[in-house]
Amino acid sequence: MMRLSLRFIVPLALALGAIAYSVAPLVDELTLKWFVRDLDIRAKLVASAAQEPLAELLTDKLRDKVRLQRVQAFFNRMLQDERLFALGFCDDAGALLYKTQALPGAVTCRAPGVPAEESGTVLKLPGGPLHVAASPVMVDSERLGELLIVHDMSFIERRSADTKKYIVYLFAALGAVIALITVVIAELSFRGWIAGIKALIHGQSLALSPEPKARELRPIARDLDALVRDLETERRMRDEAQISWTPEALRSILREDLKGDEVLIVSNREPYVHVRRSDRIETQRPASGLVTALEPVMRACSGTWIAHGSGSADRDTVDTNDRIRVPPEKPAYQIRRVWLSNEEEAGYYYGFANEGLWPLCHIAHTRPVFRASDWEHYQAVNRRFAQAVEQESRTEDPIVLVQDYHFALLPRLIRDRLPRATIIAFWHIPWPNPEAFGVCPWRNQILDGLLGSSILGFHTQIHCNNFFDTVDRYLEARVDRETYTISYGGEPTEVHRYPISIEWPPAALARQRPVAECRERIRRELGLAPETRLGIGVDRLDYTKGILERFAAVERLLEIEPRWIGHFAFVQIAAPSRSRIEEYQSLDARVRAAAQRINARFGTPVCQPIVLRMEHHDADQVYAHYRAADVCFVSSLHDGMNLVAKEFIAARDDERGVLILSQFTGASRELVEALIVNPYDTEECAAALRLALAMPPDEQRDRMRRMRSLVQEFNVYRWAGRMLLDAARVRQRRRLAGATRRAAQVVDLRRV
Ligand code: F6P
Repeated sequence: MMRLSLRFIVPLALALGAIAYSVAPLVDELTLKWFVRDLDIRAKLVASAAQEPLAELLTDKLRDKVRLQRVQAFFNRMLQDERLFALGFCDDAGALLYKTQALPGAVTCRAPGVPAEESGTVLKLPGGPLHVAASPVMVDSERLGELLIVHDMSFIERRSADTKKYIVYLFAALGAVIALITVVIAELSFRGWIAGIKALIHGQSLALSPEPKARELRPIARDLDALVRDLETERRMRDEAQISWTPEALRSILREDLKGDEVLIVSNREPYVHVRRSDRIETQRPASGLVTALEPVMRACSGTWIAHGSGSADRDTVDTNDRIRVPPEKPAYQIRRVWLSNEEEAGYYYGFANEGLWPLCHIAHTRPVFRASDWEHYQAVNRRFAQAVEQESRTEDPIVLVQDYHFALLPRLIRDRLPRATIIAFWHIPWPNPEAFGVCPWRNQILDGLLGSSILGFHTQIHCNNFFDTVDRYLEARVDRETYTISYGGEPTEVHRYPISIEWPPAALARQRPVAECRERIRRELGLAPETRLGIGVDRLDYTKGILERFAAVERLLEIEPRWIGHFAFVQIAAPSRSRIEEYQSLDARVRAAAQRINARFGTPVCQPIVLRMEHHDADQVYAHYRAADVCFVSSLHDGMNLVAKEFIAARDDERGVLILSQFTGASRELVEALIVNPYDTEECAAALRLALAMPPDEQRDRMRRMRSLVQEFNVYRWAGRMLLDAARVRQRRRLAGATRRAAQVVDLRRV
């Protein structure tokens, strides 16, 4: 800045100085004229003052010598005026009779007959310029001669030199000020421009950003902005239109768009749990929507999945680095297990995550519990996972997919350790409105943690909007709903909707027997007659799933349509979950009691209306039940997505079966051909069951066909693919921003 300013200011100041120097003589000439005119007037005044005494001296009868002495003395008195240089007196014949000593020889009397000058003349002598004026001396209209009045003009020269000097200084100073102002404005404009380009590269709207920008660059910025957005929309549209989202499509994104960059997943639940069963170790796949969705993605990506090692034989199956390659039958990626003590698990998982955040985010009317000790564990465990991410990453800028509410703090902690990582956090459960979220004592820390992500995903737009509102309410952040971006501290966070899904076709489907066989087998296993109509519900045993509401609907159906008694059974598979928590224990008891009560009321020797299976079922068993059922009932009171609904559809390659779906699931936004119900409305749910059991095969087929094609198209590879494409875009922007920064540094260096 200093150098640039000097380079600009000095020449400009010199140029202006030179101009001033050439302008000065003009000013000089002008001021000389003014001074000459002043001296003319002054000379007249002097002459008029001297007129009378001089005339007296000249006409008095005095001897010549005395007259000379007296005139001399008079002139000398007059010369006390410091401006007067010399005086003289010429008679009418043009003879110089009296003069003071200093009168230069060049000053002579006017020859007789030569007309008198109107104004004085300027004599340029080596000693300096003199102003010479002649004024007649009269007595009663008789002319005695002329008084020569000589003024010293050297003071004018001195003044003119001073004026010249001041004019040059003034112009030079003026030049410097103008140059300085110009340089400052230019610098500010330049910075604004650079900031604008940076903002553009970071994905912010230049035109709409409230940051001060160079005014003159705004139209260009707007155009650039629009262009980038158009390209992105086009690109996204092309991706959306890509119909076959397969593991291969995902691999090609990793290869081409992400150039083989490293992918790490972090979740609490691991995809494979090793459990000790007396003398052998069993591998289990947990009942988790998250695992169902991410496992096929990971098989395609071949990265590392970091998760809590929760199985009783987990430690026995890992290598010295706590890693194990999976799937057991055909290893494609590795799990890195993180060990937690019982206290840590109690505080972080059962406590803060599942007694605090889970009820906080689900509108199921269960009060959240927040304990300071749980929060301590939650923070510590998040830190531990951040450390594991750092240990596992081979590069400085991996792509890290952080899963769910167990790790709200993790994005920020990873960002601190790996500033160049691309962090995608996905929140698998609903995000509540600001009032509901506001009761959490550590709400700001949670928001801050999540805003460490590059991209934050939710299933639905409502949850994205709730998040925007929450940040707006509690943090000093810039929320741009037009570009779906939140700027809070460092890197901006994009917030997008990515509705999760399942793999297509599901691996478990390939292992299934034909539908007729499944129908027959399951009924046989349940001790039901072959023609019994079957409903199915598959959930973790959780109060958000609306299992009791579902049973109430079955009960009501049997009340209003007794012909189903003995001919309709509802199988509820409920995988035990979070059973150390009191609320879940009480739910377990209430579910069992409700089933017993309804069975006691409507059961027959050959058919119990509620068949409760409170145990873990593997995917093959679950799919067999889906295929055997006439109706699948998903009655969640609140659910981020609910993948059971999508699995049921995927399982029905015979295009039969009816899905009843709660309006409070994310899935109901997509699966509009399901029978959508309010689970709190028992009458409506019973009517839906009735309708489902009576639905003609053609209608079942039409509905199922549409839903199948939607799930096929919007499968989990697309869900992951869209996030990875967005990650690729963010990384590309960061690379460009890096290039701009480096260019800016070069400019800075050149300036220094
Ligand atoms: O719904 C949120 C979620 O994380 C799901 O992804 C998953 O099905 C479930 O919770 C896991 O529960 P948990 O790991 O506590 O058994």
